[in-house]
Amino acid sequence: MRVLILGSGGREHAIADAFGRSANCEAIFVSPGNAGIALDFECVELQDRIVEFCRSQAIDMVFIGPEQPIEAGLSDFLRDKGIKVFAPSRAAARLETSKAFAKELMIRHSVPTSRYQMIHSSEEAASVLRKFPLPVVLKADGLAAGKGVVIAHSYEEATKICQDMLQQVCGAKGVLAEEFLKGWEVSLFAITDGRDYQTTLFAQDHKQLYDNDRGPNTGGMGAFCPVWEAEPYRKQIERDILEPVLSAMREQGCPYTGVLYLGLMITREGPKVIEFNCRFGDPETQVLLPLLRSDFVEVCKAVTDQEVAKLKLEWEENSCVAVVLAAEGYPGPYQKGIRLDTEKALTKVYYAGVSRQDNRLVSSGGRVLSIVGKATDLQSARELVYRQISSMAHNGLIYRQDIGLRKNTLE
Ligand code: AMP
Ligand code: GLY
Repeated sequence: MRVLILGSGGREHAIADAFGRSANCEAIFVSPGNAGIALDFECVELQDRIVEFCRSQAIDMVFIGPEQPIEAGLSDFLRDKGIKVFAPSRAAARLETSKAFAKELMIRHSVPTSRYQMIHSSEEAASVLRKFPLPVVLKADGLAAGKGVVIAHSYEEATKICQDMLQQVCGAKGVLAEEFLKGWEVSLFAITDGRDYQTTLFAQDHKQLYDNDRGPNTGGMGAFCPVWEAEPYRKQIERDILEPVLSAMREQGCPYTGVLYLGLMITREGPKVIEFNCRFGDPETQVLLPLLRSDFVEVCKAVTDQEVAKLKLEWEENSCVAVVLAAEGYPGPYQKGIRLDTEKALTKVYYAGVSRQDNRLVSSGGRVLSIVGKATDLQSARELVYRQISSMAHNGLIYRQDIGLRKNTLE
């Protein structure tokens, strides 16, 4: 198989690596990739030349990493040109790109999720919000790159945020007011051809900037896999969440194919959906795919050839931890051009916001890279990663010390 991966983050680096371990992968290209991914794989700038490239390089499959190109219609466009694509259609991706679409579908099919109401105008904001206990969650409808969610602790604050969101973030699309769910969060991925599915191991992201889950929300500061505490819920999640959603998508005429990301809250009443994404998670992929024992080419082919019924996912009995190194200041304005000292690292390094300057790797983004350790248990994987970080220069970079230490219990 000759594959083209679209995207430029740590997730795409891990995806390329998974293809790289397959005996059935003859060529791997990443577009645009980044200077760190380019240490391992060929990165190409394509922009609107994707179809031409696929033809000239005899690409067998395009794997789309992030959600934006899917929302822009790229998976549909490439399929129309006869190219096999690992990604859902634009219509199916509404499970992520429209929170209102996802919520309506869940409520209609009794999929456990938080109670919600749409707010379309500033005038109705105050009265709708008072129907929810505090704190109340506000989400801008439409893609907002993780910046569209605010948890408000007073009605005054909630009303103000809601009005700002209506004006700035999403214009006419509206704001979702949502009941705040108490519990612990976990991510699960379903590989599906629209009809059949296989779920992966559970993984856990750490979204806040600082230790003990404090500070602002980020794109993810680290992750670990597997999450054993979530295993007792797997059957229930498949039966009560995944199966009704996949069947609803088929009924609507837009079967979901590719990978469906279930962002879940494990509550006292059982697992509930916080959000769906139409792609793999970042940084969850950096800890999930290194544990995949099955051939990744076969996994992806099962999706594009509609043969997931025959697929069996096999996993190593190890644990993985990823710690993200971010530029100081992130998620606000941050410094760029920090010199990186990772080329000799003994653990895996998956690169995100990096570029090359004077023949050296330097930072160019907020989340710069993740250091990934794999060992027989979580504690040993943690030790590996933190030992690696201590042994290298990381001036100007910040990271959490507590990835993998979270206690997943319901108080
Ligand atoms: P989202 O972009 O929907 O993943 O939301 C970002 C983060 O906000 C989630 O990972 C949760 O930590 C938090 N969050 C979102 N919705 C809720 C909710 N209904 N209750 C509690 N926390 C939430
Ligand atoms: N890990 C969160 C996300 O990928 O959206």
